[in-house]
Amino acid sequence: MSNGIANFIQWVMTMPTDNDARTATYSPGLDGVLAGETALCHVDEGEGGLRYRGYAVSDLAGRARFEEVAYLLFFGKLPTRSELQDFTTQFAAGCMLPGPVEAFLGVVPPGAHPMDILRTSVSLLGMADPDASDCSHDANLRKAIRLMGQIPLVIATAYRLINGKAPVRPQADLSFAENILYLLTDRRDGETTKAMAQVLDVSLTLYAEHEFNASTFSARVTASTMTDMHSAITSAIGTLKGPLHGGANEAVAEMFCEIETAERAEQWVRESLAKKQRIMGFGHRVLKKGDSRSAIIQQHAESLGRICYDHRWYEIAATIDRVVQQEKGLYPNLDFYTAVAYLLMGIPRELYTPVFVCSRITGWCAHVIEQQDHNRLIRPRALYTGPAAREYLPFDLRS
Ligand SMILES: CC(C)(COP(=O)(O)OP(=O)(O)OC[C@H]1O[C@@H](n2cnc3c(N)ncnc32)[C@H](O)[C@@H]1OP(=O)(O)O)[C@@H](O)C(=O)NCCC(=O)NCCS
Repeated sequence: MSNGIANFIQWVMTMPTDNDARTATYSPGLDGVLAGETALCHVDEGEGGLRYRGYAVSDLAGRARFEEVAYLLFFGKLPTRSELQDFTTQFAAGCMLPGPVEAFLGVVPPGAHPMDILRTSVSLLGMADPDASDCSHDANLRKAIRLMGQIPLVIATAYRLINGKAPVRPQADLSFAENILYLLTDRRDGETTKAMAQVLDVSLTLYAEHEFNASTFSARVTASTMTDMHSAITSAIGTLKGPLHGGANEAVAEMFCEIETAERAEQWVRESLAKKQRIMGFGHRVLKKGDSRSAIIQQHAESLGRICYDHRWYEIAATIDRVVQQEKGLYPNLDFYTAVAYLLMGIPRELYTPVFVCSRITGWCAHVIEQQDHNRLIRPRALYTGPAAREYLPFDLRS
């Protein structure tokens, strides 16, 4: 046999076949699967903790303003003072809602969940965006910066209109976190407000990015078809909404409010565990030994409780935490103590997951940019579990 024919046979034998999907390793829920590459963030369960582009999140939270973290995710470096100034000027300029979005916010169906309103609004924002279908690096960056400014405004405007309040504009002298607090709670001045805004800033930094979590992965899958950024973000918002993902922070606060007092917490959680119910804000697909972000926000939530002279939510949370660790060996994730902090700030409960979006929009957009800059369509295989091959039968022969 000539070398040419032998090489041809070898090549044919290594060609992918339909059977590859059966023999490839299969992991339900893609647990532990490396599904792509990223230079944005490294999730390490050990000493390293979580890092954004090499920087430990424990160093960034509370020291860098959230705007610096957003810049880091978008541009790959921490900004100088003047770069940060330019950046904040840019997204402040983009803090406007096009007419069709304002009109939509005025007619949303009563009782609509703010995450649904946000999902539809981002879709509408895409139709009005001057760079809508341009997937170049620079156009994607411009859209990311605009979305960062527009999303808090959508959330606040929708919430205020639904509750019969006049919309307010972000204030030029306030930081990103201060503006969110102002837009959602009317708080602007005073020492307590300042402390709340600092904790909110920390929580935004902690929420900004977490590699291939479900919503980011859905954004990347969508972006990998080279569709537009707003389509990818719309996918991500729909994915984040679920209680197993971003919706957990709202679900945690609901649980705290149902429990009401620290005295009732232990019995409540034991009964729930006995009924095999999941305790919201515990567990993580990747972080089985604990979530380093949780310890950071826990500390801030506790000290905010002291500043506000309100220990109730923290005490309920600490009791649940103790019992769940004891009984299930599960640790709190970022959503758990964040709910304590947001309750203290007076942020309306149904806006907790939208506030998560105000932060995670930076990670999502950075991933969309990274995906489209080095694109390969994401298209895995499925393990077929249906019937064996069978013949089509005409009606008369079917039983
Ligand atoms: C996040 C989450 C979906 C990760 O799940 P996962 O890695 O796929 O783990 P599984 O869903 O397979 O659960 C494994 C076991 O732990 C239990 N478990 C996981 N999270 C639990 C929780 N929050 N409360 C009680 N039990 C929990 C499951 O019931 C399961 O027990 P079993 O083996 O006896 O059936 C899961 O921990 C959860 O539902 N948490 C609550 C929601 C939440 O806080 N989401 C935010 C995540 S950041």
